[in-house]
Amino acid sequence: HPHLQISPSILSADFANLERELGRISDADWAHVDVMDNHFVPNLTLGLPVVEALARVSPVPLDCHLMIEDPDRWAPGYAEAGARSVTFHVEAVRDAAGTARAIRAEGARAAFALKPGTPFAPYEELLPEVDMVLVMTVEPGFGGQSFLVDQMDKVREVRQAVRRHGGEIWVQVDGGVSLETIGRCVEAGADVFVAGSAVYGAEDVPARIDLLRSRARE
Ligand code: DX5
Ligand code: ZN
Repeated sequence: HPHLQISPSILSADFANLERELGRISDADWAHVDVMDNHFVPNLTLGLPVVEALARVSPVPLDCHLMIEDPDRWAPGYAEAGARSVTFHVEAVRDAAGTARAIRAEGARAAFALKPGTPFAPYEELLPEVDMVLVMTVEPGFGGQSFLVDQMDKVREVRQAVRRHGGEIWVQVDGGVSLETIGRCVEAGADVFVAGSAVYGAEDVPARIDLLRSRARE
């Protein structure tokens, strides 16, 4: 599995020391940044000015997951601020294709995300517009929740559609991904793994990233 990638979520990091916390994941492929607006989800984290500052100091590219209303208006700005991948939710967007194109026009990878209750089929036609599909494996809003194994059918469905479609579209899972659950995600066809508490909850963060990688390759 040469293409498996780990994207640690800084939601579980020490928000008082974000530059240092990014330094601890320099062996990862991405840094997953959860942007929450207290409207799309009942939690509030950080926004554009902070992402811009993180992009200046991060040793790894930023993978921005926008859990916000009106991503049509805001998503391209995150790419402009330096995020190398920008993910918006289909439940919040009005013009998904237009938003994805605007993200790509800023030079970033574009992705759409599906909450656990949202089916994939109505959005399959968007595949030509994106570089990744995010299948949420918890209800978005908080770290440290338990993995929703019933989402593996959706991961399989997305992987099959991506295969049919051709090209190189990544399939990301986010929520409850751990040493115990990452194998099932690989088996279902995911290739980008977001992990918050499983990475930052470890005493030795680089060792945990290594361990998640080797567990994914088993
Ligand atoms: C949840 C966020 C996740 C969160 C995952 O809404 O999108 O990225 O940080 O945290 P864990 O890995 O602890 O479930
Ligand atoms: Zn996330």
